[in-house]
Amino acid sequence: MPAFPHQLVRRQEAADLMEACSALLELRLQQRLEQQHPRPLGLATGRTMEPLYAALVQRLKAWPAPTLEALRAGWLSFNLDEYVGLPGADQASYRHYMDVQLGQPLGLSSAQLRLPDGSDDDPAAAAAAYGSELASSGGAGFQLLGLGSNGHVGFNEPPCDADARCRVVDLSPATRQQNAGLFAGDPERVPPQAITLGVREILQAEEIHLVVTGVAKAAVLQRLLHEPPTVDLPASWLQQHPQVWIWADGAALH
Ligand code: GLP
Repeated sequence: MPAFPHQLVRRQEAADLMEACSALLELRLQQRLEQQHPRPLGLATGRTMEPLYAALVQRLKAWPAPTLEALRAGWLSFNLDEYVGLPGADQASYRHYMDVQLGQPLGLSSAQLRLPDGSDDDPAAAAAAYGSELASSGGAGFQLLGLGSNGHVGFNEPPCDADARCRVVDLSPATRQQNAGLFAGDPERVPPQAITLGVREILQAEEIHLVVTGVAKAAVLQRLLHEPPTVDLPASWLQQHPQVWIWADGAALH
């Protein structure tokens, strides 16, 4: 197995990192247009991804109109996670986030930008259905990931096994605190549960791109780079995948 990560891309400034990462994603989207049965994209949410999606949208809007139309027509992506109990219209939902970041700017429909249905009356059944849907679409090709300060990927909170599947999870107090910004700063208003793809589905992607920015992620990134895989650091299971790129800015790698 090659050394972990397969590629470590470092840029001092986060903006330069996003340019580099969006350039590779743009290239993969161009390549997808030439494939007969491309795998869907695996997408993530969170503050880290916002400048990346903005940089990507800018690049794609410079494409010739017919090529952009072909991209639009063939777009299919699966997001990692969604809060349980939030309808898509809720401004704090990840569905809303994706509509704002990519759906509206690129003219993509909800059916093309898939997320788990957090408003389903039976979240466990919705999670199982979402995992099956991704599997029957072939699994993700290019998988984007952010990193939680507690080492989560998607909403796979520690402790988490490498074979965890798409399911309903309880969010830790640390995660609810970290994500309170969209809930008037009140962690108690952050839903206590979410649906997330499991580490198992994430590891089935063709290539994995973990994007880590800011000094708040420095400690967890050091652990990820130096500790062996453990249930206490769900992102550490990525070490078992042969094609992992870590994209980090100077603050996260300091
Ligand atoms: C959130 C999401 C993840 C995200 C991560 C980092 O809780 N569930 O998908 O990648 O934590 O978030 P941020 O980029 O806001 O730091």
